[in-house]
Amino acid sequence: MSSTKDTRPLFLRALAGEKVERPPVWFMRQAGRSLPEYRAIRADTEFLGLCKNPELACEVTMQPIRRFGYDASIVFSDILIVPEAMGMELSFGKGEGPKLAPPIRSMDDVKKLGHFDPLDKTPFVMETVERLVAELGNTPLIGFAGAPFTVATYMIEGASSKHYLETKKMMHGQTEAFELLLDKLVTSTIDYLRAQVDAGCQVIQLFDTWAGELGPEDLLRFAVKPARRIFEALKDLDVPTIYFPRGCGATLDIVNQAGAGTYGFDWRVRLDEAWERLGHQYGAQGNLDPAILLGPIDVIQAKTRAVLAEAGGRPGHIFNLGHGILPETPIEAVEAVLEVVHGSAKS
Ligand code: CP3
Repeated sequence: MSSTKDTRPLFLRALAGEKVERPPVWFMRQAGRSLPEYRAIRADTEFLGLCKNPELACEVTMQPIRRFGYDASIVFSDILIVPEAMGMELSFGKGEGPKLAPPIRSMDDVKKLGHFDPLDKTPFVMETVERLVAELGNTPLIGFAGAPFTVATYMIEGASSKHYLETKKMMHGQTEAFELLLDKLVTSTIDYLRAQVDAGCQVIQLFDTWAGELGPEDLLRFAVKPARRIFEALKDLDVPTIYFPRGCGATLDIVNQAGAGTYGFDWRVRLDEAWERLGHQYGAQGNLDPAILLGPIDVIQAKTRAVLAEAGGRPGHIFNLGHGILPETPIEAVEAVLEVVHGSAKS
């Protein structure tokens, strides 16, 4: 019998809600310190320098694709490139995480932040995308940005945070300034993502890593609605969209108002229950705990099978971790997951 196998990328077919032979798989942070070939490049290049060098950024994006044959790639960059382009000073100290200076604490600080033209302030991102499109062949490329709430936390705290107290103080004590900050992030992010798609990205993901810190009302007002404005403004581009509001397993009936086509979950919620609460009209991305990849191979494979069983072969499942892959993850652990997901193909 002649084969009628669909040659359109598995990832794009799954995002479109089509029935596919197995779930596509990629890992958040798949390019990075878990790979020895990335660590070799980082040995003599700073992280930000890497993001701003299209040749090297393209190379490190390709590394996990070459090694593992993931079904999707994601532009090597960072969510904090946007606040830098808006005028803040960004640095990554050794082992300290990111710093943004000076922190945004008042209406005056917010007013000083500029709107930016992505081609003028972040041309290296678009150039990386263009190089990748030429190298990737049939593997789709995801463009991304941080969601406004999550990026705002870094701008207000000035660094990573445990309790988001400065953010919440501003949200509740200077609500007008906080909303203006979100508004500026919404407009900038729309232009920034549009430029990535114009350059060749086929899918968009918004990372809302800290959305789970908010109670239901604040979540809707300060995280989901700003994200929704971005997805709505990009509708005409006709690209699939993914929203990853980490830590929101209990509030998926709120999160699903963001207007994305697919939603990412972390591992604190069962994928079947999450999908039920989210609504099966949406795609679901996730949700293996990345820490499981530090354990024995038989456990890794059993937990991978459990995620697949919860997804139940339903169209629209994208296999991923529930958060970024950990730097200490052994190569064999990734291979063990992929063996199971690839083996789940229906013939
Ligand atoms: O492969 C990919 O997923 C693409 C690249 C990517 C990076 N950051 C590279 C990176 C993506 C999609 C991000 C998103 C990002 N950046 C998020 C949202 C997703 C998440 O993980 O929650 C956040 C919150 C950031 C901000 C950020 N960048 C932090 C807090 C840190 C320091 C923590 C750490 O892991 O060191 C970074 C640095 C960073 N971004 C690295 C990488 C590969 C490590 C830098 C290094 O090489 O030392």
